[in-house]
Amino acid sequence: MIALKQVPLPAANRGHARISVNAAAVTSGDARIRSAMAPAGMSVGLRLAFGIRRPRQPVLGMFFSGTLEEAVAGMEPGTRVFGNTGMAMGAHAQHLTIASDRIVAIPDDLELDDAEAAALPFGGLTAADFLIGKARIAQGAKVLVNGATGEVGCAALQIASNFGAIVTAVCRTENHEFARELGASRVHDYREGIPRGQWDIVMDIAGTLPWRRASELVAPGGVHLPVTASLHQMLGAALFPRRAEGRRISGTTSSDGPAALLRLRSLFADGVLKPVVGARFPFSRIVDAHVLVDTGHKRGGVVVTMQRA
Ligand SMILES: NC(=O)c1ccc[n+]([C@@H]2O[C@H](COP(=O)([O-])OP(=O)(O)OC[C@H]3O[C@@H](n4cnc5c(N)ncnc54)[C@H](OP(=O)(O)O)[C@@H]3O)[C@@H](O)[C@H]2O)c1
Repeated sequence: MIALKQVPLPAANRGHARISVNAAAVTSGDARIRSAMAPAGMSVGLRLAFGIRRPRQPVLGMFFSGTLEEAVAGMEPGTRVFGNTGMAMGAHAQHLTIASDRIVAIPDDLELDDAEAAALPFGGLTAADFLIGKARIAQGAKVLVNGATGEVGCAALQIASNFGAIVTAVCRTENHEFARELGASRVHDYREGIPRGQWDIVMDIAGTLPWRRASELVAPGGVHLPVTASLHQMLGAALFPRRAEGRRISGTTSSDGPAALLRLRSLFADGVLKPVVGARFPFSRIVDAHVLVDTGHKRGGVVVTMQRA
């Protein structure tokens, strides 16, 4: 259950930054941790990682933008930053402490408001790691994005199309125009079944195209990216990444460390990726933000913004 509470200020260890949070993303990851609902076979791991009966860290939230309260790592107080707490969480709060290598500064010349900066990392880090890092996307590649208009999908469509790929987006018809605006050149409604064709990269964000369904969609030499994977799929991908005709399955988790954050800022600065904020709520309405995320049909990211006295 989500409720707003007054809690003590978080303690800062040496080398940690004190942040006044300006905005924070409420993601499908937060919803998973809150509800302990995960793809088949993953719930036990989720509970072991984050808490058996309820989240060990009662303040959820991994992705945020904020303002530095004290100087740290060469950055002055007042510097605007965005970042990723990783498993420590705690970003759904007015104040946060975080290792200084988990934040990056937002230079004054970057046009990125607080909500956009909070919405950038979840989808951006994931899509960049899977498409650029794991699939080594290149000009002219044919890419299928299954689950194309959520937070990860919006980032995937933009990165893939800006790398010169030919992108097919899978989402409901009512989102097709939106997917085209983000770079898709073909669209498919999943309610009409699995799309027909073959793609060099099949990125399964919705978790409905495990290898047994996706294998016929992956072109020879192509790659399957199971972004949402069951335990069975994770083990299969780890143990048998190479499949017939030079095809491969690449990774089930994404890297989100300091280098990935810096690359993300560059992708934004270079115009490859713009965060999509589908909904903004004041922090006092964080429950409504979770309700929207739980639908599984949000567009882009959902953000809560902090009110200052
Ligand atoms: N592996 C990793 O490291 C990693 C990192 C981040 C996220 N993830 C996972 O990625 C998943 C997606 O995250 P998200 O926040 O982007 O989700 P989301 O915002 O809820 O997006 C859902 C998207 O999937 C589409 N969709 C819904 N049902 C579908 C179906 N049956 N077939 C195909 N598409 C369907 C929706 O389209 P309509 O709205 O048109 O229905 C929408 O475009 C989550 O499961 C999350 O856990 C994994």
